[in-house]
Amino acid sequence: MTCQKNSDIKSLCLVFGLTCLLLFGICSLNGSVRGVQKSLTIATDATLAPFEFQSVGKLQGFDIELVNAIAAAAGFQVKYESMPFSGMIPALQAHSIDAAVSSITITEERAKTVSFSRPYFKSGLAIVVRVDNQDITNFESLKNKKIAVQIGTTAADKAKTAPGAVIRTFDDTPIALQELLNGNVDAVVNDQAVVLYAIKSRNLQGLKIVGQLLTQEYYGISTPKNSPNLNLINKGLTKVLKNGSYTQIYKKWFNAAPPELPEKLSFHKENTQSSSSGIFTSISLIFKYFPMLLQGALITLILTAVSGMIGLIGGSLLGIVRLSQITPIRWAARAYIDFFRGTPMLVQIFMIYFGIPALAQELGFTFTFDRFVAAVMALSLNSVAYIAEIVRAGIQSIESGQSEAAQSLGLSSVQTMLSVIFPQAFRRILPPLGNEFIAMLKNTSLVAVIGLEELFRKGQLIVAENYRAFEFYASVAVVYLCLTLLSSQAFSRLETSMNPLKQRKAKV
Ligand code: ARG
Repeated sequence: MTCQKNSDIKSLCLVFGLTCLLLFGICSLNGSVRGVQKSLTIATDATLAPFEFQSVGKLQGFDIELVNAIAAAAGFQVKYESMPFSGMIPALQAHSIDAAVSSITITEERAKTVSFSRPYFKSGLAIVVRVDNQDITNFESLKNKKIAVQIGTTAADKAKTAPGAVIRTFDDTPIALQELLNGNVDAVVNDQAVVLYAIKSRNLQGLKIVGQLLTQEYYGISTPKNSPNLNLINKGLTKVLKNGSYTQIYKKWFNAAPPELPEKLSFHKENTQSSSSGIFTSISLIFKYFPMLLQGALITLILTAVSGMIGLIGGSLLGIVRLSQITPIRWAARAYIDFFRGTPMLVQIFMIYFGIPALAQELGFTFTFDRFVAAVMALSLNSVAYIAEIVRAGIQSIESGQSEAAQSLGLSSVQTMLSVIFPQAFRRILPPLGNEFIAMLKNTSLVAVIGLEELFRKGQLIVAENYRAFEFYASVAVVYLCLTLLSSQAFSRLETSMNPLKQRKAKV
């Protein structure tokens, strides 16, 4: 008995000892790796050739090679993380990344929230138009014109200052340029080196740069405010600038000798204090921007109502067609439903808004889309497919005795469908229709990608302006929640009002 107990204790000790050894081993291995080289997570928005982009799945560009050279010179490792440009400053504020490299212009406003390395690239904003455009020649002639920009960039800020201009914001620069090529806007404002590269090597021959540079800017690598890594990055950058690697990388990408770079930008010292924070500032900011959010909510509601109406009419017809006796018609309806239910709505939106005009252009004619029309089209084509299936199931759930009875009373099959089957089926399909409506209300946020300023896009624009990600995405979520709660309330009332049993009870 005691012997057995002893051996049990021994084997327990052995397991415990081995586990400790293993844990210690892992820790010390980790420690030694860290001791040798620090690893920094650096975010990049790889959509901006020649600075950061992907080629055959590999990250490359001037910024990437420069950061790799800096890392080698300063002795740290880099882990790149892909991130949309407009999310970088909030991510730095939240300390979810160690640094960001994405041709980020050092601005006074940004320097209040994040820290910047010494400048590493001299740049400026340029105006791009289609080659056949003669009336835009400089910044003044952008007055009352439609301009496409990337959200959250210095170009977006500059374009806003053109009097009467209508600004359309896109998630990345290639989409903004595509928008110009498709003829939906008159001009694009963007970093000059990016546009030059796009025109030269990206098959965008239909575009040209006009006028002088609108600004003079410098790019910097940004880190969270006063991050200890900033020193390391600056040391590496200074080394790379001195030892000739910078010139080599610059020549490789721009085929020219690099210009002189300042060591610091003048406002750097003045703005070392971080931007004001605190609950009161947050609340007052939310109040300040709330009307903007409400404008977005209104667009969201209109989008949902219009697309919902089209979806309901189209879906009901398609649902009936889906039950047709004629096989090819039935199959065509089935193919439509399968396509729109089986492909992501985001892809459908891109196909409609960017794909169709691009295809038309290749076929030799110009065709442009209004963003609202494109958004309604994408949303309603999609909901037609879902509602058709809901309607079909509703119709099939009505007992066959009903149509037999109607027909024996002398009603035609169309009359039977319209006055007997459909009204009963409609009552049954109200709950799933309510679900579909709520899903569509939330799906409207996807059309932000084509620059339509609905609720979510308004939120993104506000965050791009004041970098208060939590406050404004939370506010956006609350407004969506209010809209969906109100809609589900409206649907349950409609359900009650259409339920004959409940109506009778209410009367009694
Ligand atoms: N330099 C501009 C800015 O800082 C645009 C940078 C956009 N970068 C990008 N990777 N998309 O506002």
